[in-house]
Amino acid sequence: MTRARVVSTLTTSAIALAAGLIALARPSGAMSPDERNSVGSATTTRGSFDDVVDANARQLVDDGRQIFRFDTFGDEDFWGGALRLHEAIAGAQNGGVGPGVSPAVALGVGLKVDVDALPRGLRKQLRRGDVDVNDPATTLALLQLDAVVGVTGRFDQSGQLTSVGIQCALCHSTVDDSFAPGIGRRLDGWPNRDLDVGAVVGLAPDLSPIAQLLGVDEATVRAVLASWGPGRFDAQLLLDGKAFTPASSTAATLIPPAFGLAGVNLHTSGAWGSVPYWNAFVANLEMHGKGTFIDARLNDATQFPVASTAGFSDVRSQPDLITAKLPALHVYQLAIPAPRPPAGSFDAAAAERGRALFEGKARCASCHVPPLYTEPGWNVHTAAEIGIDDFQAARGPDRRYRTTPLAGLWTHAKGGYYHDGRFATLPDLIRHYDRTFGLMLGDGEVADIAEFLKSLPNE
Ligand code: HEC
Ligand code: HEC
Repeated sequence: MTRARVVSTLTTSAIALAAGLIALARPSGAMSPDERNSVGSATTTRGSFDDVVDANARQLVDDGRQIFRFDTFGDEDFWGGALRLHEAIAGAQNGGVGPGVSPAVALGVGLKVDVDALPRGLRKQLRRGDVDVNDPATTLALLQLDAVVGVTGRFDQSGQLTSVGIQCALCHSTVDDSFAPGIGRRLDGWPNRDLDVGAVVGLAPDLSPIAQLLGVDEATVRAVLASWGPGRFDAQLLLDGKAFTPASSTAATLIPPAFGLAGVNLHTSGAWGSVPYWNAFVANLEMHGKGTFIDARLNDATQFPVASTAGFSDVRSQPDLITAKLPALHVYQLAIPAPRPPAGSFDAAAAERGRALFEGKARCASCHVPPLYTEPGWNVHTAAEIGIDDFQAARGPDRRYRTTPLAGLWTHAKGGYYHDGRFATLPDLIRHYDRTFGLMLGDGEVADIAEFLKSLPNE
């Protein structure tokens, strides 16, 4: 079609559309009953099903945000009841055990504080330095305000901390540091690469429930937790009992973002399933919430010795505090966009050259298809196809690696790239592809592709 022809077609349809809208805008009193019926059934009028859809979408996002941030799914029976984590947080001074966890210690292990949950007076005191950040009692006050991201304290009438639970936001939210380092507004979906999950769990006075599950002693559990380091968690440990790779590094993987997932088929580095699959998995098996989880693949005693013995393939709790929340939790995550990089954080001209290489000579887009940057379809590969070992892939049912969606990559440079952070920098990662696929990329081309990756999402 010539340009003129396109314009005239557009103009014609625009006129037709405008005429339709004018017709619709006529007050309904001016229409015959027949006209009203035909209009009402085919278009958006008050009370139409479109309105129902819109209201539903809004409700699901609102509910999902609440669940993602604040729902423990009843997991305080595990973290508080069984592991007694709350006693370590409170400290002996406040009816618990040990030194307690001061805000300074909490921020030091990567926990974040939601500034919007702090009353104005407290913010002022904090700014003036009038708050003792080395006193565990201050942490208890923050928990009472629901200000510690991803952690909920339960208190009795006397203000005594009686239990503690965790949320999705613990690992998949951070804050913008707008008030102070570690204190700011919530950024849902952003992976908390500062959070030392192993150190937090390792505070618990009683790790015997985990030790029993794994068939090891508590000292071993503590050593494994201490080996994880910041930004990592091992979601397969309680399935296969593997804590270290054959090369003796930790088997824990990096916490990925929970944003930019709309349109992406399979999730997690091991492609375990869809977002709602994984949400049910995590809420039941990792957070130890109370719900229902069914996956017969976990009956494989060779691949999943711990899970098959523990009966993780068929978990049914009464009451079920998870299943009814999966729809809203799903929609909320799909609604979180991958955040755009700040202006000036990459070289725009180099990024444009990098895009051409990404889609051309470097063949990246053959798997990372823009603008999803994963395959629309079945988005997995064998370890050999991407030139790495299959240790982590073999821990998942499909024994494959999922093609990581790349939008928002700039938010999680900390900890490195690939599921285990094996590439410290983007040039390291690109040179790996260069070797694996024989791409013959020059140093300038490597740098340009790196700038392009830092610019995503840029559609
Ligand atoms: C203790 C930290 C932790 C908590 C709590 C947690 N996750 Fe995760 N999450 C992870 C890690 C680590 C992975 C990567 C697992 C892998 O690749 O094997 C992951 C993966 C995911 C993914 C896949 C992302 C992708 O790239 O496909 C989604 C979605 C997700 N989590 C959602 C949730 C939701 C929803 C909750 C709450 C019900 C939750 N997570 C709780 C650590 C956590
Ligand atoms: C054969 C398919 C395939 C091709 C071609 C490919 N990738 Fe990947 N990519 C993957 C898979 C699978 C992963 C996940 C690996 C892992 O986590 O262990 C991945 C991961 C990544 C990551 C890590 C993301 C993160 O969050 O850590 C980046 C960045 C990346 N690829 C960029 C590229 C670039 C740049 C190219 C071209 C030079 C490229 N990929 C070519 C399949 C591919």
